[in-house]
Amino acid sequence: MVPLIDPFQRAITYLRVSVTDRCDFRCVYCMSENMTFLPKKELLTLEELDRMCSTFVHLGVRKLRITGGEPLVRKGIMTFFESMSRHLDSGDLDELTLTTNGSQLERFAQQLYDTGVRRINVSLDTLDEKKFADITRWGRLEQVLRGVDAALAVGLRVKINAVALKDFNEEELTTMTKWCADRGMDLTWIEVMPMGDIGNEDRLGQYWSLKDVRKAYENSYAVTDLAERTGGPARYVRLEETGQKIGFITPLSHNFCESCNRVRVTCTGEIYMCLGQEDMADLREPLRASPKDDTPLEDAIRAAILLKPKGHDFDYSRQKLDGQMPRHMSHTGG
Ligand code: GTP
Ligand code: 5AD
Ligand code: SF4
Repeated sequence: MVPLIDPFQRAITYLRVSVTDRCDFRCVYCMSENMTFLPKKELLTLEELDRMCSTFVHLGVRKLRITGGEPLVRKGIMTFFESMSRHLDSGDLDELTLTTNGSQLERFAQQLYDTGVRRINVSLDTLDEKKFADITRWGRLEQVLRGVDAALAVGLRVKINAVALKDFNEEELTTMTKWCADRGMDLTWIEVMPMGDIGNEDRLGQYWSLKDVRKAYENSYAVTDLAERTGGPARYVRLEETGQKIGFITPLSHNFCESCNRVRVTCTGEIYMCLGQEDMADLREPLRASPKDDTPLEDAIRAAILLKPKGHDFDYSRQKLDGQMPRHMSHTGG
């Protein structure tokens, strides 16, 4: 099988699949308060999602991350995880994982572990109940903390993802770091990206460069750069005092597109070749038009990969926003 290689000689081995555009939260940097969600018939069925992912695995994808919206609110999603675990068993897939807001983990942690998931990413920007309610609009911190505990209790490794926001979680750097260290969890900070038509004046003001986050760590800890990578965009350091890893995802202050290995598929079967560009192709049509034979789908995937752009154009320098994407983050799952 010829592997998926894009025009910049990058091998595509990591697929992020959004299984729903819905979410039980309304994070301010991700969704507007009144989102219109897709009608059910637009969505790929669980069987179609299976065929889609299995085709990518057949074409050389080794890492599969399930996203949303909130992936665990999709009805029947455990059936899908169960069926994907066959690719772990066969050795065709190295990792089956998900990015979640944590709200449903109490219910699903054990089942996730049983399907072969070993490591999950939980998005959590603050440990302050009031701030959590403000930023997620609909979320309850308590529920997420119980979810994280449930995940750890069944033996899942948990990485916390926090969007770095000035005047929001800036003063929580040490509390969050310690909270993670106490539970043996790594923590990754993400620079806020200009996605979705929401509050852009705020976005510039909220942008907290991870160069500054790193400096803040250096003021309190001995920081060692690590060479190891997880296949995602984060660069890691180790804090010698706690032994934990801190990740930095820096689309703004340091572009990592040159080593991009991933594409995204939305819940309607569109492939987005870059998070920060509009380039996309429809995979649902070839999938549905040929229920028995995967060749048309494979051809459509290969054709799309040949159109993968070099990188995003996000830029906050010169005190204005460049590279803005009208698409909401929940559309492609980050
Ligand atoms: P691991 O390294 O396996 O933990 O996963 P990951 O960092 O790839 O996945 P995760 O879902 O934790 O990604 C965190 C966030 O990083 C995403 O939600 C995006 O906001 C951002 N991100 C991931 N990939 C890209 C990318 O290709 N481009 C940009 N600009 N941001 C990305
Ligand atoms: N910029 C950066 N990260 C974002 N996320 C959602 N919206 C944005 C944004 N505008 C993050 C979430 C979650 C992941 C899926 O994407 O916090 O960790
Ligand atoms: Fe939901 Fe995640 Fe978007 Fe928050 S960032 S609204 S948890 S999809």
